Amino acid sequence: MIMNTLATIFNHKSIRKFKNLPVEDEILNNILHAAMRAPSTGNMQLYNIIVTRDIENKRAILPFHFNQKMILDAPVVLTFNADFNRFNLWCEQRNAKPCYDNFLSFITAAIDTVIAAQNAVLAAESQGLGSCYLGTTIYMAEELIKFFELPKGIIPIATLAIGYPDEEPELVDRLPIKGNVHFEKYSNYSKSEIDEIYSYKENLESSKKLIEENKTENLAQIFTEKRYTRESNLLYSNKLLNILKSQGFMNNF
Ligand SMILES: Cc1cc2nc3c(=O)[nH]c(=O)nc-3n(C[C@H](O)[C@H](O)[C@H](O)COP(=O)(O)O)c2cc1C
Repeated sequence: MIMNTLATIFNHKSIRKFKNLPVEDEILNNILHAAMRAPSTGNMQLYNIIVTRDIENKRAILPFHFNQKMILDAPVVLTFNADFNRFNLWCEQRNAKPCYDNFLSFITAAIDTVIAAQNAVLAAESQGLGSCYLGTTIYMAEELIKFFELPKGIIPIATLAIGYPDEEPELVDRLPIKGNVHFEKYSNYSKSEIDEIYSYKENLESSKKLIEENKTENLAQIFTEKRYTRESNLLYSNKLLNILKSQGFMNNF
């Protein structure tokens, strides 16, 4: 079953439970080719995709993904890495001097990488599969670099667990359009607009339950005090900056 693009996009749900079924080679190839059809800076395709299907390799990377079980349950795990290595090698082999050892080049490659990853999500979903991103990749880039033996010029950016869905979650809420879209110029928000934009999300039963479980005053505090805290943001920022240096992307600093 191939779904049309808009239907696929509007029905998107992250899937974290998977049937114990393999993903057929043809289907996986479609996903990989769809990722590679994504637009990229100068058509340089500054990423690589590592396919993990072997259970031993999944077990090895599991702790780097904070033991999120979908790594084991998903038949296919794709790690998307920002990659200037291949491009640099090509340049060197053609008497062209690579000049991509800087922060801008990292961001450029990272943008190419996430666009390719999202194409993979849509290709998976349009073929009846489900997927979920794992944000742990960027936190644990150093460990993944060692495990995958990534040379300089490569930084892990995003991981997708992919397989046949074994759950049917509800669509997850989104902000109303004025929460994300501005016409012609940015218009900053008044307090009442912020209240309005977040009121639907804040009044969901699921949000109220989360607040109770986390013993916070409100939903925003779950983000600042529990999920994405200053302490963890600083820790992983420093880890990432070090890895950007050692992978050769900070030679301008
Ligand atoms: C970059 C990124 C990292 C994510 N990391 C995780 C993760 O580590 N674990 C997880 O269960 N979901 C993760 N997600 C999924 C989000 O929680 C999910 O997309 C969001 O709650 C909206 O739900 P939906 O995708 O079902 O619409 C991630 C999504 C993105 C885009």
